[in-house]
Amino acid sequence: MSQRSSSNRGAASSRAGAAARASAAVPAAGTGAVSPAIPAGEPAGLLRFEEVREHPRVRFYVRKADEALAEIGYTEHGERHVGLVSRIAFNVLKRLGYPERTAELAAIAGYLHDIGNAVNRDHHAQIGAVMAMQLLNDMGMSDEETLICMGAIGNHHENDGDPVSPVAAAVILADKSDVHRTRVRNPDMIKFDIHDRVNYAVEKSFLNVDEAAKSITLELTVDTAISQVMEYFEIFMTRMLASRKAAKFLGVSFGLTVNGNRLT
Ligand SMILES: [Fe+2]
Ligand SMILES: [Fe+2]
Repeated sequence: MSQRSSSNRGAASSRAGAAARASAAVPAAGTGAVSPAIPAGEPAGLLRFEEVREHPRVRFYVRKADEALAEIGYTEHGERHVGLVSRIAFNVLKRLGYPERTAELAAIAGYLHDIGNAVNRDHHAQIGAVMAMQLLNDMGMSDEETLICMGAIGNHHENDGDPVSPVAAAVILADKSDVHRTRVRNPDMIKFDIHDRVNYAVEKSFLNVDEAAKSITLELTVDTAISQVMEYFEIFMTRMLASRKAAKFLGVSFGLTVNGNRLT
């Protein structure tokens, strides 16, 4: 039995959504043209990343999660952060030769990974996974793909998460690489805490995937007048260990460079 036929609430909208996607892929009468939205060789009806990102409820959840974190003094976790995590997670898997659809699932999970913050910062990964189940189910995603996304979202946090799949590993690597001064909400340096200071000190961050060398390197440019490198390690050590574990799952090594110097 398909998940759509077994779903109660949202079943009608799921069917409508699936039908809309399917019809988009069917050649228009007499033209023989196939919608470019569905790449050749893929079955019709797959839930696309853009459809998830543009869904009004997804946009609302992402905004509310960021607002909740602003209330308790956390750095930016809104569209900028989740959009970046989504793109990086997609690129990591693409560069390492994973199928296009697996990379797209990483993009979807990456976009939804922090929505649980709208409910509570504690356990936000697991809460977000359940919220994503409802969203993706209503949009017509299969149970198998939904569970892959849920596993990635529910395991993205460094304290209690593990790379349980390539999608989960990619989301972990992407999430932990987002350290940048644009994430600091309050530009008043006098009020900076250590998280603000470290984020503000990072002028450039780039996750370099070298498929030939089988390595992933987080390259940071840090203004050491604002934050010492030691401070970075003080708060990011667990994130780096999570990144290393995720890279290992993908069969590559993980390294960190700060201002051109290799530290790990
Ligand atoms: Fe998170
Ligand atoms: Fe995040």
